[in-house]
Amino acid sequence: MSGLTLTTDSPEATQAFGRHIGEALGIGDVVLLAGTLGAGKTTLTQGIAWGAGVTEYAHSPTFVLVHEYAGRIPIYHLDLYRFEGAYAVDDLAEVEDLGIDEMLETGACIVEWAERAAQVFPGDFLEISLAEGDTPDQRIVTLAAHGTRYEEMIAALESFTE
Ligand SMILES: Nc1ncnc2c1ncn2[C@@H]1O[C@H](COP(=O)(O)OP(=O)(O)O)[C@@H](O)[C@H]1O
Ligand SMILES: [Mg+2]
Repeated sequence: MSGLTLTTDSPEATQAFGRHIGEALGIGDVVLLAGTLGAGKTTLTQGIAWGAGVTEYAHSPTFVLVHEYAGRIPIYHLDLYRFEGAYAVDDLAEVEDLGIDEMLETGACIVEWAERAAQVFPGDFLEISLAEGDTPDQRIVTLAAHGTRYEEMIAALESFTE
């Protein structure tokens, strides 16, 4: 499994790196974001969406599970924050009803708190973890590839981390 770690020093730097990810995104791609509240998942998602050609972007209220943005391809931004965990059966059914497979036939999914319903996502995905750094505006961003598609994506992103 290949990986990549970088440090960003501002929200803008996180978004700028996200743009490169968004430029690389294609139909069927899955990006699962990990990290605590305030880690920068939504901030990174904005950059990814911009890179994918999205021009309008609203901060999604957390009670809305999925937002679709029109870019070069549709970008589906999912936020599963309000799920307590993967083991609440009714909750899982609700996530299944979102039709993630259908979304992936036309666009790409970026998911916050995916670990709360990990079973509904494909086995191949790009995992991105965000954690606080040494200063308030610093974040450690770690990419891990699950599947060859994402190994190639990470290899292409390496040049943007210097
Ligand atoms: N380097 C950084 N990268 C991303 N966000 C940062 C960074 N430094 C400070 N921040 C701030 O941290 C917060 C991250 O919020 P958000 O992206 O909504 O987090 P999450 O979606 O993980 O809960 C924002 O207020 C943002 O301005
Ligand atoms: Mg968020």
